[in-house]
Amino acid sequence: MSASLVARSLASVWHPCTQMQRAAQVPPLAITRGQGVWLFDEDGKRYFDTISSWWVNLFGHADARINAAIKDQLDTLPHVMLAGCTHAPAVELAERLSALTGGVLGHCFFASDGASAVEIALKMAFHHWRNRGLPEKREFVCLRQGYHGETLGALAVTDVQIFRDAYDPLLMRSHQVMSPDARQALRAWPCTTLAICARRGPCATSTRCC
Ligand SMILES: Cc1ncc(COP(=O)(O)O)c(C=O)c1O
Repeated sequence: MSASLVARSLASVWHPCTQMQRAAQVPPLAITRGQGVWLFDEDGKRYFDTISSWWVNLFGHADARINAAIKDQLDTLPHVMLAGCTHAPAVELAERLSALTGGVLGHCFFASDGASAVEIALKMAFHHWRNRGLPEKREFVCLRQGYHGETLGALAVTDVQIFRDAYDPLLMRSHQVMSPDARQALRAWPCTTLAICARRGPCATSTRCC
């Protein structure tokens, strides 16, 4: 059963981050169920999902509370657009997120995934300056080695070559600045105690240690 599902998958599904010509050499796992940190295949074999299948790193697989909330919402109102309509879960979540920022976050604009959220943030930033009469402010600064998703806008502010290279001609130009990464500070300012300093916070003896 597993083998046939794997064969059908290789014949019909384009697996992301996978060179499909070589996919058969490391065939995909045929997973039927997930629970917490575990994945189970059709034969009941259990796998420790150390990469959290990328998107379940916070709560694991099949979190009972999240599943119950999703099922309840599906039974009540699976979808309504937020253009011209509103609904309690959207309002309540927006209010709670705003409260977490002490009211600084005035309104929430909901996106369907991380890359879409980055696209929206880029557009909002541009739109803000356009509304203030400065449409020429259209350049973005991003962190070196940062990752923001793989849609074209998000990729333009992403600095991971393996994701970017093939699409580089399509991407808008951005300015990259060094990220606040202690390992880079180590290269710039050799310091044997850097690891200790990074743990303790602001250095007590000198601002630059060495
Ligand atoms: C920091 C960051 N931004 C954006 C994204 C893209 O999110 P999504 O995969 O939901 O599009 C990710 C995904 O891992 C991320 O880690």
